[in-house]
Formats: sequence, structure tokens, C-alpha cells
Amino acid sequence: MPTSESLLLDPDFVRDPHAGLERLREEEPVYYDPHLGWWFVTRYDDVKRMLADPGLSKSRSVFDDYVAPEPGSFAGRFDSASVLHKNPENHRVWRKRVAAGFTPRAVRRMERQVREVVEQFAAPIREATGRVDLLAAFADPIPNTVIARIAGIPPFPGDESRFRALAQDVLRRYVFFADEENLRRGDAALEELAEWILKLTGDRRQERSEDLVSDLIHEETEHPPLSDDEIMVFVASLISAGSETTTLGACHMFRHLFDHPDQFALVRKDPSLIPNAVREALRYDFGSLAAVTPRYATEDFEIHGKTIRRGDSIMLSPASANRDSSVFEDPHRFDVTRDAREALTFGNGPHYCLGANLAMQELSFMLEAALTFLSADAVLKSSEDDWEQVGIMRRPLRMIVDLRR
Ligand code: HEM
Repeated sequence: MPTSESLLLDPDFVRDPHAGLERLREEEPVYYDPHLGWWFVTRYDDVKRMLADPGLSKSRSVFDDYVAPEPGSFAGRFDSASVLHKNPENHRVWRKRVAAGFTPRAVRRMERQVREVVEQFAAPIREATGRVDLLAAFADPIPNTVIARIAGIPPFPGDESRFRALAQDVLRRYVFFADEENLRRGDAALEELAEWILKLTGDRRQERSEDLVSDLIHEETEHPPLSDDEIMVFVASLISAGSETTTLGACHMFRHLFDHPDQFALVRKDPSLIPNAVREALRYDFGSLAAVTPRYATEDFEIHGKTIRRGDSIMLSPASANRDSSVFEDPHRFDVTRDAREALTFGNGPHYCLGANLAMQELSFMLEAALTFLSADAVLKSSEDDWEQVGIMRRPLRMIVDLRR
């Protein structure tokens, strides 16, 4: 392995990391990237255990040298209301408080909303002929529109597209190693979004409606309800947690199906395989290195002969864990009939993805709808120019499909 340059930023590695990840699992399961200053953990058992380890913090704010944003500033308000900065006990209570937004009634409503949003973007493609960009027309707009719709951003003309534009800018800010321009645009977008969500929260305090923000305010729980700032940060963090992840998940799912026509044919023949195919696609690869979950050591410890010091940054890699042959037989085979429930795509333990069911539902409905506009002759016209590397992440710029009709 290279010692002076960053393995994790190496374009060849980012493009196709699985052989390299396998080597790391075998030879150096806790690998230090000197360029980034991160530990990188790749084996299934380690990743699963460490994801749930209360001795590892999700936030640097637990350390003495952490410089908090100025109190009273927007960044300061955002920071202090963020889930990242909660200790394990606060976090446990926070999960119970936000559960008010995910009651069975709310989940049924969300299912209906997700179906409507997917159909809104599927309908024009069904009418299209020639080529379509599956990213711009389908995979990109759906997750942010779903978040806007479930949160209760009123679907007045223009509102959802403005929400989507802001959400995109916010996302770019949170990408690892965002440049100055993206940071500036992201911060401006976050402030505009925050104002918008706070206005919505004020309105819903006056009058309950059928949406997540209303439920967070009015649903009874054993704990005090969230404050306006906490609701604002929660809705904004759904964008960073639930939009790019789901878009990437959709793109990779379609890529794997096009790359494995026998598996695509199985799904076409038996659509009851859809939820399983989605889970398997997310196990197989959903953006590879994008799928890292950061942690910070709160004390010194030893692992596989390496000494990790208090304050060290550790990246846990579910993407690598999901290809570990000690858990998944023949892990590099994409198999839509496989039982992939052990995959760590959505994490493990107290921070397990709050939107896992929503994401699975979105992707399942997207695949179901895609079967109505992607004939068996449709071809994905993908080339290397269609992808960009943003830090450790690989993201498609477009996904051109020739519909062959
Ligand atoms: C394919 C799509 C998605 C993937 C792969 C994904 C993955 C993850 C992972 C791995 C974690 C755990 C992070 C950790 O332990 O540090 C997580 C947490 C989280 N996810 Fe997702 N996610 C997806 C979609 C969503 C959606 C759609 C939402 C909501 C709209 C969402 C909301 C959250 C939230 C709020 C957390 C933080 C939970 C906590 O810290 O208690 N995610 N997600």
C-alpha cells in the first residue's frame, strides 16, 4: 500500500476500490491514510462492532480543542441543535423524540407521498422516446422532492424546485473536502433553507397539517417536543443524510442491473424480487467510498496491532464490510435472490439510519416504475466521462439511457 500518497483519494482506487478493499481486509484491516490523517477500517466484524461502540464519538465536539461556532450565530444555533453533538443518553432521547414523526400513520402517509413523487417523475419518461438522462430526470430530483413533500414544504409552483436547488448546494457543502466556493454557496443555501423551515414550523405550531413538521410539534411523546431550532436542524439534516445517499443508491442500482442483464431479467420476470434486488444493489456497491461513516476515538485503544489515540479520526467502511467473504458467500457476485439483510449499508446500533425504510421504499418504487419505461432493449450508454470524483466520492454526472423506442 502507498505510504506517502493518499490511497483513498487515488482516482484508480475511487473508480474501482473493491480489489484494493479486499487487500486491505486481508493485509491491513486497520489502515492509516497519512495524507488524510484517517484510520480506515474495512472488516465486517470490526465495522459492525465499531459502528455501535459508545466509546467512539460521531462528533469532534467531545474534545477539549474543539472550537465551537460563535454562540448566537446561525452556525452556533445549528451546531448546538445538531444530532451530531449529542452524547449517547441525549441521542437516545432524541431518537425517541423524532420517532413522533414516524408513527405507523405517518409512515402510511409517507408511502403514499413517495409513490406520488415517483410517479410525477416517471410519467414524462414513459412518454419519451430516444435518450433520457436517468440521473437528471429521475434519480436526482426524487429524493429531495420526497423530503420536501414529507416535511410539508407546500408544493406551490416553483417551491419544490427551489427547495431542490438549495438542497443541492447544502449537499455540496457537506461532501468531504468541499472547496471554498462550495462551502460559501452551501452556507448561504443552508441559511435560506433554515429560514424557510422555521417559517413553516411557526405556521404548523398555529395549525396542524398532515406532514412531518406538524407531527414533530403535535404528536404526544413521553419527552418534551423538539424546539424550533431542533426541528429546523432535523429537516435540514434529512437533506444531507437522505438525498444524495438515495440518489447514489438509485444510480448504482440501475447501473448494476444494466451491467447484469440476467439479474435484470429475473426482476422483470418476477417483480416481487424488487425489495430484495434493492437491498442487494445497496450491498454490492452504492457509491463505494462515499459510504464511509466517521467516528472519533474518545480514548486510546489497540486494534489489529495498531494504536489508535484519543482524538484520532476513524472511517468505518460499510462498503468494504458488505464485500467481506466471512459474511457474504461469493461477495463480488451481484445476485438479486441473495439474502443481503446482514449488509451494513444503513449502519448498525444506536445511529442506525433513521430513513432506512423510507430509502428502501423510494428505491423499490423507483425500480417498479422504471420497469414500466425501461424495455428489455433499453441500453445504458455509460462512459468514464459520465462520472466525477468529489473527494473520496464518485458521482455520476449523467446516466444516459437509450430507450430504444
Ligand atoms: C440509500 C440511502 C441511504 C443510505 C445508504 C443511508 C446510510 C446511513 C448510514 C450508514 C447511517 C449511519 C451513520 C453512522 O452510524 O454514523 C445513516 C444515518 C442516518 N440516516 Fe441514512 N441513509 C440513507 C437514506 C436516508 C434517508 C432517506 C433518510 C431520511 C430522509 C436518512 C436519514 C438518516 C438520519 C437522520 C441518520 C442519523 C441517525 C442517527 O445518528 O441517529 N437516511 N444513514
